[in-house]
Amino acid sequence: MLAYPPAYYDAYFVGVPGDVAFYTRRALSTGGRVLELGAGTGRVLLPLAAAGVPVVGIEPDADLLALARQRLSQASRGTRQQTCLLPGRMEELDLGETFAAVLIPYRTFQHLLTPVDQVEALSRIHAHLQPDGLLLMDTFDPLQEMLRDGVQTPLRLDTDFLDPGSGQRVMVWYTRQVDLEMQLLEQHLVFEALDADGRSCARTHAQLVLRYTPQQEMIYLLENCGFCVEELSGDFHDSLYPGYGNQVWVARRSAEA
Ligand SMILES: C[S@@+](CC[C@H](N)C(=O)[O-])C[C@H]1O[C@@H](n2cnc3c(N)ncnc32)[C@H](O)[C@@H]1O
Repeated sequence: MLAYPPAYYDAYFVGVPGDVAFYTRRALSTGGRVLELGAGTGRVLLPLAAAGVPVVGIEPDADLLALARQRLSQASRGTRQQTCLLPGRMEELDLGETFAAVLIPYRTFQHLLTPVDQVEALSRIHAHLQPDGLLLMDTFDPLQEMLRDGVQTPLRLDTDFLDPGSGQRVMVWYTRQVDLEMQLLEQHLVFEALDADGRSCARTHAQLVLRYTPQQEMIYLLENCGFCVEELSGDFHDSLYPGYGNQVWVARRSAEA
């Protein structure tokens, strides 16, 4: 089953408030070329490039990559000239060059479902960073009551939006389940399109499985893969991380992995 239905990606997967401005500001401050892992449809990558950051984006999903390339083809010449989009997965990264920063926005690191994959990806990222290069990423913890009870939620309405492609209203339903042993959050999404009379006319299902990593475990992982943690915030406005919710990480390449 799909993780991200391409037709609905931009309307539903809108990011975390402040994320594009944060990644753009931090990437600009390096003064160098950056690498975005899991670029999706270019939600972060295109504003980065438009702001003057030379950027390479990696994306494994062929449909999302095609949408990103299509959007890039409509961007200004300056944006196109400093942007490169490639297929690929972060745990298999082998580009033969190093970058001033590696960015992993919008919980993409959580697609690595085992500690083995996490270590493999961090090792590849380390090999693609210049000495003192920055790793910037955000992740999140599941709701505390889900961690406590480990239950499956009943199907609930999340939101609705107007699909710019079809003009139809789309209702989005979700159910979530936590696998406490494997540290996995499984989300089943149903995108229900309504016709002009408000009747259900099509359903698209999506299944998102993400690994959550508590703060101390992430620090251990990063340090053991040759990174020094410089900042952990609870949002993109430098708020203290309260122990749950969003985790915004800034780490620096410090040593051989
Ligand atoms: C939540 S989306 C984020 C997309 C984009 N960065 C954004 O902020 O809108 C997660 C992305 O990670 C990609 N992805 C999944 N597994 C990956 C992996 N192993 N390596 C790199 N990207 C991956 C997905 O295909 C998807 O495009």
